[in-house]
Amino acid sequence: MLSDKMAAALNEQIKIEAESSQIYLAMASWAEVKGFEGISTFMFKQSDEERMHMLKLLKYVNQRGGSAVVSALEEPRLDYTSFSTLFRQLYEHEVKVSASINNLVDIALTEKDYATHNFLQWYVSEQIEEEAQAKVILDKIDLIGDSKGGLYMFDNDMKSFTSAGHNIVQ
Ligand code: FEO
Repeated sequence: MLSDKMAAALNEQIKIEAESSQIYLAMASWAEVKGFEGISTFMFKQSDEERMHMLKLLKYVNQRGGSAVVSALEEPRLDYTSFSTLFRQLYEHEVKVSASINNLVDIALTEKDYATHNFLQWYVSEQIEEEAQAKVILDKIDLIGDSKGGLYMFDNDMKSFTSAGHNIVQ
């Protein structure tokens, strides 16, 4: 059974993951309109993944005797100046999500909730992956600079970019 404090913190994370999904959905739509097919494919996939993160938490809260809260979401406020500012925001957002996951782990320990501590390890690993993935993409963007050809290739590579493979063309 979850403590009230743990349940409230997990419910807050449900909202954060749902908002992450909205943020990446907004990015996907922007990229689609701009004709960045690869970037939009990548962002739609990211958005789906965040929804999965949200659902996994929701089901866990209910399974452990809590009541998952499905709350209203903030409209994403993003800087769409360029695709590189978009990816910078993605990276910064993931760093914030990692901090909130770490905070949940802290709460699980202080509440002596070892089941939740164990459950959260999946998210800890996921955040390492997501931050690393965003960092790899940002490094590639720095390399491209203002090259139009580079941007074309980058967009093309993003279609098949996976966090496991980091299979972007070097
Ligand atoms: Fe579910 Fe990207 O944090």
